[in-house]
Amino acid sequence: METTVRNRTVGWWWWWRLIAASALALMAVRVEGQQSYVDNHQLDCYNHFNSTDGNVCNGVDSTCPSYLTFRSQPPYNTPTSIGYLLNSQPSQIAEANNVSDVDTFPNNSLILIPINCSCSSSFYQHNASYVLKIQSETYFSLANNTYQGLTTCQALMSQNGYGDRNLLVGNQILVPLRCACPTLNQTRSAYNFLLTYLVTWKDDIPSIADRFRVDPQAIWNANRLSSSDIIFPFTPLLIPLHSQPSAAQLSSPAPPPLASAPPPQSHSSSSKSSNNKWVFVGVGIGSALLLLLLALSAFLFCTRRRHKPKQQHMQKPKAASPLPSPPPPKLLLLPQEEKEEEEEEDFRGTKSVSHGVRHAIESISVYNYSDLQMATDSFSETNKIRGSVYKGVFMGDAAAVKMMKGDVSSEINILKRINHSNIIRLSGFCVHGGNTYLVYEYAENGSVGDWLQPTKCHHLSWKHRVQIAHDVADALNYLHHFTNPPHIHKNLNTSNILLDGSFRAKVSNFGLARTLEVEDDKQEEDDGPNFQLTRHVVGTHGYMAPEYIENGVITPKLDVFAFGVVILELLSGREATTTRRGGEGQQELPLSESITEVLQGDNVRDKLKAFIDPSLKDEYPLDLAFSLAQLAKRCVDRHMNSRPAISEVYITLSKILSSSLDWDPSDELERSHGIGRSQPNA
Ligand SMILES: *[C@@H]1O[C@H](CO)[C@@H](O)[C@H](O)[C@H]1NC(C)=O
Ligand SMILES: *[C@@H]1O[C@H](CO)[C@@H](O)[C@H](O)[C@H]1NC(C)=O
Ligand SMILES: *[C@@H]1O[C@H](CO)[C@@H](O)[C@H](O)[C@H]1NC(C)=O
Ligand SMILES: *[C@@H]1O[C@H](CO)[C@@H](O)[C@H](O)[C@H]1NC(C)=O
Ligand SMILES: *[C@@H]1O[C@H](CO)[C@@H](O)[C@H](O)[C@H]1NC(C)=O
Ligand SMILES: *[C@@H]1O[C@H](CO)[C@@H](O)[C@H](O)[C@H]1NC(C)=O
Ligand SMILES: *[C@@H]1O[C@H](CO)[C@@H](O)[C@H](O)[C@H]1NC(C)=O
Repeated sequence: METTVRNRTVGWWWWWRLIAASALALMAVRVEGQQSYVDNHQLDCYNHFNSTDGNVCNGVDSTCPSYLTFRSQPPYNTPTSIGYLLNSQPSQIAEANNVSDVDTFPNNSLILIPINCSCSSSFYQHNASYVLKIQSETYFSLANNTYQGLTTCQALMSQNGYGDRNLLVGNQILVPLRCACPTLNQTRSAYNFLLTYLVTWKDDIPSIADRFRVDPQAIWNANRLSSSDIIFPFTPLLIPLHSQPSAAQLSSPAPPPLASAPPPQSHSSSSKSSNNKWVFVGVGIGSALLLLLLALSAFLFCTRRRHKPKQQHMQKPKAASPLPSPPPPKLLLLPQEEKEEEEEEDFRGTKSVSHGVRHAIESISVYNYSDLQMATDSFSETNKIRGSVYKGVFMGDAAAVKMMKGDVSSEINILKRINHSNIIRLSGFCVHGGNTYLVYEYAENGSVGDWLQPTKCHHLSWKHRVQIAHDVADALNYLHHFTNPPHIHKNLNTSNILLDGSFRAKVSNFGLARTLEVEDDKQEEDDGPNFQLTRHVVGTHGYMAPEYIENGVITPKLDVFAFGVVILELLSGREATTTRRGGEGQQELPLSESITEVLQGDNVRDKLKAFIDPSLKDEYPLDLAFSLAQLAKRCVDRHMNSRPAISEVYITLSKILSSSLDWDPSDELERSHGIGRSQPNA
C-alpha cells in the first residue's frame, strides 16, 4: 500500500520535473534567442537600438570561422574585388564558390565569403576598411548600398570618429561587418557555423531554411524572431549551419514546391520535418533525457503551432510584400514618404513603418498650461530668453517656449511634418487664453545674429561660419527639394538661425513659411507651378528679394536671396542694412548691394580683405573667402533667374566646407597668392 503511494509520488515528481525541465528548455530555445534581428532599425541612423550596434559576444568562442554573403555587383564582381571590399582572401572566396580567382560572377549572384569572426569590445564583427571615393557617400549609403546591409549606419558611426556630415573623400572608414559565433545552445544542437545572409525581396524564413537545409525554428531562434515576425530586404539574417555551406546552396533558388505551394500546407510539412530533426539531433548527442525533453518540446511546438494557424498564414504575403519606401540618401526623412508608409501601415502592421518617421510624427505633444508654468518657473524674468521666448525645463531637458498670439497652426503644421537636424524641432505646443505656446528644442548658443554683434567678446571662427552656412543651405535644400509640397521659409535672417551647443545651425521661425502648392483661391497662377504672387509683402528689411518687394513674386529664389545676405553677414560681420549719413540725410545701404563693388574691378584682394569681418583677423583662408563671396554675390543677384538653385549652393558650400576643415592657418601666406591673378571660382 505504502509502496504504491510512494511509487506514485515518485512518478508524479518525475513527470513534474520532466514537464518543468522541458518547459524551461522550450523557453530557452524560444525566448533566449541568440542575437536580435535589426528589424529595419538600420534605416533610422540617428537612433541606436540594441540590434543595430552589432551582434553581442555571447558565443562559446571569441573567434570563429564564419560566412558572409554578398550579391555581386560591378565593380564588386570578382573574388579579388569582393575580397578587397570585405577583407577576405580572394583565393578562399574563389574556392568557396567553386570558381577561379579571375572569374567574374554574374550580376546579382549570391557569393559566399569565408571570414574569421571575432569579438571586438562587445560585438562580434569582421573588420573591413573602406576609403571614401566620392563626395556623396554617407554612412547610410556605405552600409546599405556598398556593403548591402552587412553593417549598419549606427555601427559605422559609433566605430568611426568622423561625424556623419563631415565625411570627406579619402577618409578611411572602419567597417564592422556583422557576424557571430555559435552560442552554447547552438553548438549543443550541432550548429557549428553562423552565416550572415542578406535578405532580399520575396524571401521568407521557411524558404531560406530550405535552401540551407536547416530547421526554420533554428533561424527564428538565432535572430530572436517568432514565426509571425516580418523580415525586410537589405537586412542581415543569421543562419545557423551544421556544416560548411556550399556554393550550390547559394546558387540554387528555393525549391519550387515550397515557393509555390499555399503556405498552410508547406508550413505544416516543414514543421513536421523539423520536429524529426530535433529528435535526430537529440539522438546524436546521445543523452536519453535530452531526447525525451526534445521530443516533448517538439510536441509542445507542434501544439503551439497549431494554435496559431492564422499568423502563419499571414506571414508569407507579409514578407514578400514591398519594403517601406527607402529612406532618402542624406539620412533625411521625407514627408512624402511618411504618407506612403502610413498608407501601408494597415496592410502590414505597425512593424513595417520606418522608426525614424514614426518618431517624427508622434513626437509632437500637447502640453497643459500648468506643465509650461512649471517648466518656465511661471514665465519668470530669469527664464526669459528674449521677447516672448522663455527657457523651460521639461523632465530635465531644456526647451524654448515661445508665446504667440492667435492662430499659429500653419507653423505647427509645417514643423510637425519636418525632420531635419538643421531645422529647429518643435516638440509640442499648448493653447491657453488666446495664446499658443510652442515648445522647441533648445539652442544653447542663441542666434547667429547675436554672435555677429561687434560688442560680443567671443567670435565665430572661420570654420564655424562656413559650417553654419553649410547647415543652413542643407536645411533650405531640404525645404525646397525634399519636402512635398516644397516649402519656402520666406523669412530667413541671422536672428532666425539658432546655434546649438556645438555651433550647428538650426533654422527657426516658420511663421511666414509657406508651401508651394497652387492654392486656387489665393493665387493668380500665371507662370507655372513654382510661382505665386501676393499683395501682402512681409519680411525682414535687407533680406527681401527685389522681385518680392516690387511685385510680390514668391519663389524658392526668395530664400536664396536671403541666404546670400546671411553669407555676406557671416563674411563681413555687418548687418543686413546699414544706415549711412550722406549729403541728403540718412541713406539706407543694403549689404546685398555692397558685394558687387567689392568683387569688381582692380584690387579685389584688398577690397575683399577690407570687407571681411575684422574680428576674424587674418585667421581665414582668403581663397575660400573669395569663393564664398562670389557665391553670395550670385545669390543676391537682382534677377531671380540668375540666382543659383539652393541645391547648387549647397554643393558649392560642401566643397568650401571640406576645404575649410582641412585648412590650417599657417598655409595662408602661400595660398592667398592665387587671388587677383587667377580667379578660383571662374
Ligand atoms: C541554453 O539552454 C539552456 C538549457 O538547455 C538554458 O539554461 C540556457 O539559458 C540557454 N542559454 C541561452 C543563451 O539560450
Ligand atoms: C538593450 O540594451 C539595454 C541597455 O544596454 C538593456 O538594458 C536591455 O536589456 C537591452 N535589451 C535587449 C532586448 O537586449
Ligand atoms: C565545380 O565546378 C566544376 C565545373 O566548373 C564542376 O565540375 C564541379 O563539380 C564543381 N564542384 C562542386 C563542388 O560543385
Ligand atoms: C551588370 O550590371 C551592370 C550595371 O549594374 C551592367 O552595366 C552590366 O551590363 C550587367 N552585366 C550583365 C552581364 O548583365
Ligand atoms: C582565419 O584565421 C586562420 C588563422 O589565423 C587563417 O588560417 C585563416 O585563413 C583565416 N580565415 C579566413 C577566411 O581569413
Ligand atoms: C576590429 O576593430 C575594432 C575597433 O577598431 C578593434 O577593437 C578590434 O580589435 C578589431 N578586430 C580585429 C580582429 O582586428
Ligand atoms: C539599399 O540598398 C539596396 C541594394 O543593396 C537598394 O536597392 C536600395 O534602394 C537601398 N536603399 C536605399 C534607401 O538607398
